[in-house]
Amino acid sequence: MKFAFAKAALPKSGTVVVPVVTERTLGAAGQDLDQKTGGMLTRAMKASRFTGKKEETLAVLAPGGLDLDRILLVGLGKPEEVSELSLQAAGGALVSVLEKSGETEVSVLVESLPGASFEPARAAAEIAFGANLRSYRFDKYRTTEKKDAKPSLRKVTLLTAEPKAAEAAYQSLQGIAEGVFLTRDLVSEPANILYPESLAERCRELESVGVQVEIMDAKRLRKIGMGALLGVAQGSAREARVVVMRYDGNPNAEDRRPVAFIGKGVTFDTGGISIKPAAGMEDMKWDMGGAGVVIGLMHALAARKAKANVVGVVGLVENMPSGTAQRPGDIVTSLSGQTIEVINTDAEGRLVLCDILWYTEDTYKPRLMVDLATLTGAIIVALGHEHAGLFANDDALSDALTAAGRKVGEPVWRMPLGDGYDKQINSDAADMKNVGGRDGGSITAAQFLKRFVRDVPWAHLDIAGVAWSKKDTATVPKGGTAFGVRLLDRFVADNHEG
Ligand code: BES
Ligand code: MN
Ligand code: ZN
Repeated sequence: MKFAFAKAALPKSGTVVVPVVTERTLGAAGQDLDQKTGGMLTRAMKASRFTGKKEETLAVLAPGGLDLDRILLVGLGKPEEVSELSLQAAGGALVSVLEKSGETEVSVLVESLPGASFEPARAAAEIAFGANLRSYRFDKYRTTEKKDAKPSLRKVTLLTAEPKAAEAAYQSLQGIAEGVFLTRDLVSEPANILYPESLAERCRELESVGVQVEIMDAKRLRKIGMGALLGVAQGSAREARVVVMRYDGNPNAEDRRPVAFIGKGVTFDTGGISIKPAAGMEDMKWDMGGAGVVIGLMHALAARKAKANVVGVVGLVENMPSGTAQRPGDIVTSLSGQTIEVINTDAEGRLVLCDILWYTEDTYKPRLMVDLATLTGAIIVALGHEHAGLFANDDALSDALTAAGRKVGEPVWRMPLGDGYDKQINSDAADMKNVGGRDGGSITAAQFLKRFVRDVPWAHLDIAGVAWSKKDTATVPKGGTAFGVRLLDRFVADNHEG
């Protein structure tokens, strides 16, 4: 979808979108439009339950007195509560209504509204951002879809008094949206197309936006000693990869230590010898969601030229059962030297992360580390699909991530850590085992990771419940959500830039 910003002037044809705040309050241009149609807008609002609440829409077709096809009213909520998120939601709502309406181009009248304090140029950029995020589709494998079932909407023009300022504000939002789309693309790809080697090649493409990419193959990983990660990969015909992505957006920083993001990239998780049930196993194509977020985030930061030094590390493996697969009871030696008894081969994500966490802290001496993983079903039992689970060894880092999540509409909820949970993963045969029993399953998983973090502030985001959505929301169509890209982009912007 294309976005343009132009001087406010009433279009003569097509569809015009008019933002409204509660209760049924129009701005000056909206009132002008209302008058030109002989009061159709106020009458239509009165005749319906539309009051201008967040995400509400009301379409007025073929308005009299004008050559317009349609006027679409979209709600922004209470004027004093209009925010980045409600503006984005309005953009998303207009796309959901008009996407398949047959209309190809629409204009949005962005003006100040009574009682609301947002700046129209910034608001235009946020509406465009929300519309863009909602317009995402993964349809590359749909070859027989009828033309009238496909989206018609191609272009959205934001009409504002200051189009230059709006366009400038939109620039960096566009970079973020590109990162979100990259993550959604990766998460949506099936595992016959996206496997460690091909995913590593997709990482390579980030070089075009100024990210340095280093791909380590299995031979190299063996030499380094990533025994835990390689144990997971050994049942698959596809070789493991670890990819390091570096973006140095602030080379003259006083503190050159990078911020590190680490992602679980299990391109398919059958469970291995501890095999999963057949029903729903197809979902495990998105078990590389953590890695997908790290890759999309690196794109977003580079594309919007963030003034930060960042390293992204992803561990890419396929977890398969076979004659070469690891068995329950096997003991592997991790990169840290600590040994692990593999009780359940389906608890593989932690085995991948433990080696790349250790490697990242050792090699890059980061100022902090945040890992992301579709790690446990237990986090879905605890938090459902509304919050990601947050675990941290540092309160300030935890608070900063929580704040960033709230601002972008990707909320996280802090979960506890503690010695009692840690004891659950002690093993008689090795330094630890890879499962701690059913109770507190997402916590014992986090405790396992914590054993591979030494001195740095560290946080772990368990995104198993939020990486994929079965329903549309304002700015996220169902499917891969890219939950984490916007959150971590904001976290970097608010805490580690300049
Ligand atoms: N990838 C799964 C976790 C998962 C489950 C993600 C559902 C998304 C949706 C992970 O590798 C896994 O299998 N975890 C096990 C751990 C258990 C064996 C201790 C789980 O949660 O059942
Ligand atoms: Mn698993
Ligand atoms: Zn998994």
